[in-house]
Amino acid sequence: MDHARPTPPNLGRADPAAGLPVEVFAHDTPGTRLDTDRLIIRPATPADAGAFEAAIDALITSGDGTSGVNLPGEQARHIVKRQLDLTAKGLRTGGALRRAIFDRDHQHEVLGACNLITIERGLEWYAELAFWLTPNARGKGIAREACAAVIGHAFDDLPRGLGVASVRGYVQPDNSRAKNLLAGLGFAHMPEAGEHKDTGGHQRPHDLWLRTIAG
Ligand SMILES: CC(C)(COP(=O)(O)OP(=O)(O)OC[C@H]1O[C@@H](n2cnc3c(N)ncnc32)[C@H](O)[C@@H]1OP(=O)(O)O)[C@@H](O)C(=O)NCCC(=O)NCCS
Repeated sequence: MDHARPTPPNLGRADPAAGLPVEVFAHDTPGTRLDTDRLIIRPATPADAGAFEAAIDALITSGDGTSGVNLPGEQARHIVKRQLDLTAKGLRTGGALRRAIFDRDHQHEVLGACNLITIERGLEWYAELAFWLTPNARGKGIAREACAAVIGHAFDDLPRGLGVASVRGYVQPDNSRAKNLLAGLGFAHMPEAGEHKDTGGHQRPHDLWLRTIAG
């Protein structure tokens, strides 16, 4: 199955007809902010470090073993530093789009994150989605609302959106909350295309969930 879409014009690439290499220039600076009914979804900055740490601490305390954000024994401030570095790298290179989730009414609080941890613009244009919420933010449709906004942005045409043709999510087979969320957002379960992924320092089987731009 090929979900590639033609490369749009005006991306700062060299002219292939002239025999020069094609280079897609797609940084994400200063970083798209997505607003939904209840949420603000934006890049976390060093000013958010305290709020981000509180969210990560709550995630660790809950015994989280599925988000892939925390490594065993790692302190929240180290995790936050890594996440802020990865966020900045994504802004610089356009190879990822990492967004923290904030409540519109309590903007000092980080509720979780909704990330496109990979954005590939090669033969196939796709992004890989990963998300987590602090335990207090669960059961309210917040992850669904954030993921719907990020996926909409991923599918939106360049230069406003990312112009990808598909979004992938890799989920452990027993993670029913994440599976429900993706199924509800129109992702199809592709169990034959599973992969082992590093989660909390262990390689664990994950199933592929796929949504294409067609639906
Ligand atoms: C995966 C995860 C983000 C799902 O969180 P969630 O809150 O269940 O997800 P949703 O945003 O889809 O919310 C759905 C729940 O909100 C409820 N809900 C309440 N108000 C709602 C609203 N306005 N709209 C939609 N759902 C609403 C739904 O009924 C549902 O609850 P239920 O499952 O008890 O019926 C969360 O479990 C998590 O952080 N897990 C750890 C990390 C992880 O596994 N990440 C996925 C791997 S990348």
